[in-house]
Amino acid sequence: MSSAFRKVSDPRQFGRVAVLLGGTSSEREVSLNSGANVLDALRARGIDAHPVDGIPALIEALAAKKFDRVFNILHGNKGGGEDGVLQGLLEALGVPCTGSGVLGTALAMDKIRSKQVWLSLGLSTPRYARLSPGQDVHAAARSLGLPVIVKPACEGSSVGVSRVFNDADLDAAVELAARYPGELLVEQLIEGQELTVGILGDQALPSIRIVPPGEYYDYHAKYVSDDTQYLCPGLEGDAEAEIRALAYAAFQAVGCSGWSRVDVMRDKAGKFYLLEVNTAPGMTSHSLVPKAAREVGIDFETLCWRILETSFKSDAGDEVAHG
Ligand SMILES: Nc1ncnc2c1ncn2[C@@H]1O[C@H](COP(=O)(O)OP(=O)(O)O)[C@@H](O)[C@H]1O
Ligand SMILES: [Mg+2]
Repeated sequence: MSSAFRKVSDPRQFGRVAVLLGGTSSEREVSLNSGANVLDALRARGIDAHPVDGIPALIEALAAKKFDRVFNILHGNKGGGEDGVLQGLLEALGVPCTGSGVLGTALAMDKIRSKQVWLSLGLSTPRYARLSPGQDVHAAARSLGLPVIVKPACEGSSVGVSRVFNDADLDAAVELAARYPGELLVEQLIEGQELTVGILGDQALPSIRIVPPGEYYDYHAKYVSDDTQYLCPGLEGDAEAEIRALAYAAFQAVGCSGWSRVDVMRDKAGKFYLLEVNTAPGMTSHSLVPKAAREVGIDFETLCWRILETSFKSDAGDEVAHG
């Protein structure tokens, strides 16, 4: 996996850019918000960028040869562009796109399989049990030991995620998570600090420590509340170096490239645990990759430009004829 992306200096080199936003996943609203910010930033830098809402509209626009490349800021699966479906389509059409390809997006979308890969490489992640339909969640939780987290394997933005401290609350947690398609997992709850690490090109950005006012980092804390504190860098010295190295290794392990955000927990003893990789992380005013980039002197417009550069993959087939 090479991460050497071409440096672009002239906005015309990007051609006509579709900013792919919205879609039909549970994270549609967040994506619309992220996409509007990205669109403004690209336009402010003289890039010929246009919004396209969802994959069907993109297919139509590409058939009419309206775009040369895609800035993907769809979040989630099922019509979201974070699960390999969009990436396969664009690869087949020879249209370059920001971020990870088919393998990286598909694998990162699946929390269970991401964990399997990390565990096989000795990268730390919370102990877990995969919950097949009808399987006894109480037995699974007993084997992990309470407290646990119950979550859908393939969602984002904390939807369907519950912390469970008592056996009596397990069934409700499963019922909530099961409202979303795909498999469920039960995971050992890590009590301690929550951190996230943005990746841009071949660089891990400074970590951010999320200090929520309430119980944990839920949907409200992420997108609505203004009381959540974000400390960047989240850690110091060796611990900060360690989390950046772990996040970058996790990103590479699941075949990601371009940019991402890796969610990590740190227990009270200072041990890190990987939660997931987000291949098209949020770009809203509350979002974390922009905060981390700013910490190293990369403003929002430059960040969007740099992400767009990741559409020029260093391996074969990076250039397409202009439509
Ligand atoms: N094993 C865990 N231990 C402690 N907290 C967790 C754990 N798994 C998830 N969480 C909490 O739930 C939030 C959402 O979980 P995550 O796995 O990142 O899924 P997503 O962001 O895709 O919904 C995390 O940001 C964290 O606050
Ligand atoms: Mg997350």
